[in-house]
Amino acid sequence: MPAYSASAPGKIILFGEHAVVYGRPAIAVPVLDVSAKAIVTADPRGTPGRVNIQAPDIKLETTLDNLPADHPLAAVIINAASALRIDHIPACNIRVTSSIPVAAGMGSGAAVSVAILRAFSAFLGHTLSDNQVCDLAYEVEKIHHGTPSGIDNTVITYAKPVYFVKAEPIDILQVNRPFTIVIGDTGIQSPTAIVVSDVRKGWEKAMDKYEELFDAAGRIASSARQAIENGSTESLGPLMDANHDLLRQLGVSCPELDALVEIACSAGAEGAKLSGGGRGGNMIALVTPEQAGNVAIALEKAGAVRTIVTEVGVP
Ligand code: MEV
Repeated sequence: MPAYSASAPGKIILFGEHAVVYGRPAIAVPVLDVSAKAIVTADPRGTPGRVNIQAPDIKLETTLDNLPADHPLAAVIINAASALRIDHIPACNIRVTSSIPVAAGMGSGAAVSVAILRAFSAFLGHTLSDNQVCDLAYEVEKIHHGTPSGIDNTVITYAKPVYFVKAEPIDILQVNRPFTIVIGDTGIQSPTAIVVSDVRKGWEKAMDKYEELFDAAGRIASSARQAIENGSTESLGPLMDANHDLLRQLGVSCPELDALVEIACSAGAEGAKLSGGGRGGNMIALVTPEQAGNVAIALEKAGAVRTIVTEVGVP
């Protein structure tokens, strides 16, 4: 019996998280070292329409009927069937696994959606275009994140570095000279929706101040774009430091993230910042390939529960 499988990478935001929700540009890159995977198989003995869902990482074993329609896994399956105008889903099994840390700013929710959309549509005998996958995953992001910018589903669908502006067409970033990033996980789970909603409350109370911080983050993302496209990656370190400072002022850092950022810089990184929603999850540090090991060890000694060394811009 054929199995239809698809995987999707994790992601990190290099510059511009939070400000991107307010229309400023941001830069995100896929992280191919971690991924979500979906496998769909027919269930020839199953009652028509019965979809068995297994997601062992979140200890979920259920059927589509038993999930509320606004559960992200149910929504992705129902939205895919409806986009493909399939009224009667054949009985099947959908198994989802993921090595992407959950609620850690690495796009685990979007990656699960993209993997399911691709595997499930192939099982149904259709191919969804990248645009369709991206749009359908965005609908599910709204369940995860409330008011997402769309950056996670975009970078994960296309699996390429992106210069992202909300509601604008995809803009793939050309990386002139590959560079190395160490990702350090605080181990603190921090749902993006809560942090995004807190930033909104802050913005409502002090709009001028927040708009200035968002403008400054937008300028950093735009300078970083030029540096990445020109291959002047040495200027990315100071830009990361400056972006982290803005994120602190937005109130989305936490002592653990600040400590890892500081440790990475003392261990020789050229710059570092939190990445994603913040208040936990991951930070990133720009390093030379020679420094990567030292920085990763220093982060782990300082309490990072996991580190990943990844190359950005390697074909
Ligand atoms: C989440 O990966 C990035 C945020 O900017 C939220 C969003 O863009 O939807 C915090």
